[in-house]
Amino acid sequence: MNAMSSVAVPLVTRVSRADAAAVSEAVRVLAAGGLAAFPTETVYGLGADATNGQAIARLYQAKGRPAFNPLIAHVVDGKAARALARFDADAVRLAEAFWPGPLTLVLAKTAGCPVTQLATAGLDTIAVRVPDHAVAQKILKAFAGPVVAPSANRSGHLSPTTAGHVLGDLRNRIDLIVDGGATPVGVESTIVACLGEPMLLRPGGLPREAIESALKRELSDPPSPSRSDEAPLAPGMLAAHYAPRTPLRLNVGRVERGEALLAFGSALPASAKDAKSVLNLSPSGDLIEAAANLFSHLRALDASGGTAIAVMPIPREGLGEAINDRLRRAAAR
Ligand code: TXA
Ligand code: MG
Repeated sequence: MNAMSSVAVPLVTRVSRADAAAVSEAVRVLAAGGLAAFPTETVYGLGADATNGQAIARLYQAKGRPAFNPLIAHVVDGKAARALARFDADAVRLAEAFWPGPLTLVLAKTAGCPVTQLATAGLDTIAVRVPDHAVAQKILKAFAGPVVAPSANRSGHLSPTTAGHVLGDLRNRIDLIVDGGATPVGVESTIVACLGEPMLLRPGGLPREAIESALKRELSDPPSPSRSDEAPLAPGMLAAHYAPRTPLRLNVGRVERGEALLAFGSALPASAKDAKSVLNLSPSGDLIEAAANLFSHLRALDASGGTAIAVMPIPREGLGEAINDRLRRAAAR
C-alpha cells in the first residue's frame, strides 16, 4: 500500500518565505488539520494541531514514523505549557532558566491535557517545549494552541536545518514549508525528564553543564535499553536513527583514499589530501558552529559519493555531547 493512499487528493507542497502572510497560511493549514513545516532555533519542525487525532495520524504517515514514538508539544510560553503538564520544582527552575530555548521537558500530563493520545503514544507523560525562534513563536502565538512538531524529516533520516532539506525529504507529503533560513542551533533540543530524579533523555542544543548548574545537581542518565527490560524512556532514541546512506567511521586520525572527510578544527591529518571531499564543521574548533553545520555537512558528504565518511574526533564537552551522540547514531548501522 502506498504511504499516501489514505490521502484523497495528492498534495503539492508550497514553500513560502517567512513573512506575515506565511505565518497566517501556516495557521490556516494547522487549523484545517494539515501539516506545516517551520523553523525553530534547533531544526525545522513538522507542525500539526496537537489536539487533532487525524492531523497526527497524517503526520506519522508523512514521516513514515512508527506510531509508538511520541511527539513534542510546542507552546508559546510557560503558561501555555502548564495547561498540558505538571511541573515539579526542578521543571519550574528549568523552564524559568531556559525557556524559550532548546530544552524539552518530559513531565506528567495534566488531567485535562487536550493533546491527543496518539501524539503522546498513549503515555501518561508529555514532552513540552517553548522554541526560541521568531517564526515558530509567531505561528504558536497566532494558532493559540499546542502544536506537535517532530523534526521535519522522514523517519530515520537526518534532521533538516534548511527549508531545502525539508523539501528534499517531504515534497508532496506535507502542505506547507515556511522558509526562515538556516536554523541557528542545528541539533535537536536537549530532553530532560522531570518525573522524580531529573534525567537526561537526549543530549541536544542545551549543554548538560548548563542544566546541571541551574539545578545545582547532576542529571542522571537513562538505564541503557540493552541492560533493561523497561520500555525505552525516549523511544525515539533507537540506536540507528540519524542515518546517512554512506557508512561513517568515527574518531578517525587517518583518512583512506576515496573517503569523504568531516573535519573539525585547524589541525587536519596529512592524509586529508587523499579525501574525495572535505567539509569542516568548524575550522576554529567552535562547538556551537560545529553543531549548526552538523546535519547539512553530513548530507553534503553523503551525496559526495565517498566510500565512507571519515569523522575526526570532536571534543565531548558542551554541545560536543550532542554532536558525538548524533554521530554515534549515524554510524550505528
Ligand atoms: O529540537 C527539537 O526538539 C525538534 C524541533 C522541531 O522542536 N523536534 C524534535 O522532535 O526533535 P522529534 O519528534 O524528532 O524527537 C522527539 C523525541 C523523540 O525521541 C521521542 O521519543 C521523545 O522526544 N519523546 C516525546 N515524548 C516523550 C515522552 N513522553 N517521554 C519520553 N520521550 C519522549
Ligand atoms: Mg527526529
